[in-house]
Parts: sequence; C-alpha cells; structure tokens
Amino acid sequence: MDGERFAVVMTADGSPTIQDLTHPQREWMHHRGGAYQETQYIYGEAIRAVLARCTHPRFLVVGLGLGYIEILIACEWLKISRADTCRILSFEADENWRTNFQQWCQGRPTALDAIYQLRDQKFQQDYPQQMRHAPAWLQQFLELHGQLDRLPQWQGQIHGILYDAYSAKTSPDLWQETFLMALIQHYAASPCLFVTYASTGSLKRALTACGFTLHQRAGFAGKKASTWATRGWELQG
Ligand SMILES: C[S@@+](CC[C@H](N)C(=O)[O-])C[C@H]1O[C@@H](n2cnc3c(N)ncnc32)[C@H](O)[C@@H]1O
Repeated sequence: MDGERFAVVMTADGSPTIQDLTHPQREWMHHRGGAYQETQYIYGEAIRAVLARCTHPRFLVVGLGLGYIEILIACEWLKISRADTCRILSFEADENWRTNFQQWCQGRPTALDAIYQLRDQKFQQDYPQQMRHAPAWLQQFLELHGQLDRLPQWQGQIHGILYDAYSAKTSPDLWQETFLMALIQHYAASPCLFVTYASTGSLKRALTACGFTLHQRAGFAGKKASTWATRGWELQG
C-alpha cells in the first residue's frame, strides 16, 4: 500500500474509504457517515430503477475508486437473474485503483486486500449469494478505462449515469457546465437517469440544457441536496 499517496479511513458504518493525500483538499472518496450506506442511498435506488425500466441496461460510472458502485450494480443485477445483458462502462484516472480492482475481479491477491475485505463484509451482509459471483461477473461485463472520455462505441447507449467524481474543488474540470453537457449529450440513451451525490448550479444547468427533468432529492447524511434527473423516463421503456 502506498502510504504517501493515500490513507485508508473507516467511515461510521464500518466500511472503508480512501483519503487522497495528493490533492490540497485531501478529499475523502466517500462521506464519513458511511461509504457503503452513501453508495446505497445515492446510487442504489437509481440502479434498481434502471434495471427495472430497461432491457439490456447500460451504466456509466465516474470514477471507480474502491468499486462500491460497480459491485452494487453487479449484486443488484445478479439478484434478479435475467436473460438479457447488463454492462458497465467505468472510468478511473488512477492506475492503482484500476489495477487492484481488476485483480480482485480475477480472484487474484491484491495490494488492497485488507481494504477490499472490509468493503466486501458490508456487501456480504446484504448480498451473501451475489457476492460469490460478483467478481467474475464484473470481469466479464465491466469495461474499465482511464481518464473520463467520450468513447464513440458507447455513444447514446447509457441508461444510468452514476457520477461519482471528486468535488468541484478537487476536480474542477469534471464539474464545468460545457464539459458536463458534452458528456451527457454524448452518452445518454433514452430513457436515461443521471444521479450524483452533489447538486451544483453548473450540473443543474447542463442537465436542463440536455433536456433532463430535475427531481427534488435530499443529500446523504444531512447534506442539503443530491441530484436525480431523468430524460425520456416517463415516455418509453
Ligand atoms: C469520489 S472517488 C470515487 C469513489 C468510488 N465511486 C467508490 O465507490 O469507491 C472519485 C474517483 O474519481 C477518480 N478520478 C479523478 N479524476 C478523474 C478523471 N478525470 N477521470 C476518471 N476518474 C477520475 C479518482 O481517482 C477517484 O478514484
């Protein structure tokens, strides 16, 4: 483990997160109220809504980090056991998080095993059966890339955009209105649901300009607001 670049921190629900020591803000990947619970609160309902609404559901996750969102998608998908195919496109700029997660998917030892075990214990409480198959499923159906980019082969394909970037202070480029508009226009299928833990003016303007409807939704653990926005959701399946 690279003690200089990051620190492992425990959140209030007993699940681990990472504090990035390379940025001036030293931002945590998750809310200190609970990494697992925050993932369930912000993204769980959205994942279930997309799975219930769409055939061949496709998700975009920004960024991978410890992989809580990708594992949650896998567990929810494996729980309903369907004949169609679910796929995840995920971006992670940091090679360390990508490589270790891919090794975990392959069932190989990783430098992050101690952290991953704590993370997995939380999932095993809610998804004991599914967690046995989640790594192999992710190996097959997760497509993992580096820096967030607009991939032509995924254009117009995404039903669920799960936007889990660091805050605008740490990652200002990822929260700029024009950047978000281009990203959303590129990836959104119809129907499409966009969710994130934050609610910034630039994001709301970008979503509205892209034809999304914003829905009122409280943030996690007393935070004022998170974002839940839909396009084409009421009209088609
Ligand atoms: C809040 S953390 C994500 C936490 C993660 N969803 C989880 O469940 O553990 C944000 C992640 O975005 C990554 N990141 C930062 N800039 C990025 C970029 N331009 N493209 C892709 N990933 C980026 C960071 O390395 C970090 O792992």
